[in-house]
Amino acid sequence: MMYRDPKFQRVEVRPATGAIGAEIVGVDLAARPDDATFEEVRRALHVYKAVSVRDQKLDAQSLHEVARRFGPFSGNPVHIPVEGFDDIVRFVREPDETGKVIGEDFHMDLAWMEKPPGITMLYGEVIPPVGGDTMFASLEHAYNYLSDGMKALIADLVGVHCGKGVFANNAAHKHLGVRTDATKVDDIETEHPLVCENPYTGRPYVFVSGVLRRFKGMTEAESKPIIDHLIGVATRPEFTCRLRWEQGTLTMWDNPRLLHTAINDYSGYRRITYRTTVEGAVPRAAKAVPMSRAA
Ligand code: SIN
Repeated sequence: MMYRDPKFQRVEVRPATGAIGAEIVGVDLAARPDDATFEEVRRALHVYKAVSVRDQKLDAQSLHEVARRFGPFSGNPVHIPVEGFDDIVRFVREPDETGKVIGEDFHMDLAWMEKPPGITMLYGEVIPPVGGDTMFASLEHAYNYLSDGMKALIADLVGVHCGKGVFANNAAHKHLGVRTDATKVDDIETEHPLVCENPYTGRPYVFVSGVLRRFKGMTEAESKPIIDHLIGVATRPEFTCRLRWEQGTLTMWDNPRLLHTAINDYSGYRRITYRTTVEGAVPRAAKAVPMSRAA
């Protein structure tokens, strides 16, 4: 029998690893579950950071309704939405496509926005029989793992998250509708504190992303070893999870607290997902964290 987290009574929450990730069964989100059940799903999302809710039957309309119960749309200046819904994008990968899949390489969604999405929701409509998992890495665990010396070194750094290349990367995908005015994203450089505080729990995390190019007042060459180190720590196996898809799975993640990557291992198969995002908060610097031992 799969282990079930006893702290959740209304839905069955099955942890995926000792760090992050869980599977949720026993809820039909499109059927508007009562508030207590809905809040359990939201709590599971905040506890486990990435959750796959199984056996959903969603289309653009019902995904829109489910998502808006979690909060307003974050906006998405890059992708052309499906007709009739500003907040829903359809990602299609055909069996004969080669090259990178959408969302390949560890990244955070729309990290260059002033308010990066708080939740990303991805619904699996057509899923390969094998492959196409999504992997997640915890930025809270990454921060906790650092030595006191490293925590002191990075405490006041401000990251510059750059939109350069975002348009070209997205336009390279044959079936992804990209807005023509998304070329403007290339000029965006947004500053976020490197050590932030989770607004729900107060826990510190490192705000790194796939588009973090440098730290304020430092060159890219100086910044890169620190960025690479932090991403290397976050992606240590014990701070990650890999969630499998089934047709009808709705995977939701706490976007600012994770990096994620789509896994490119399903050539020859079609994969179709619908994505929407929920508004997040402006990332807030963590209060000074007391050192656990002399640095
Ligand atoms: C994404 O990066 O938003 C998509 C991830 C996936 O398709 O698995």
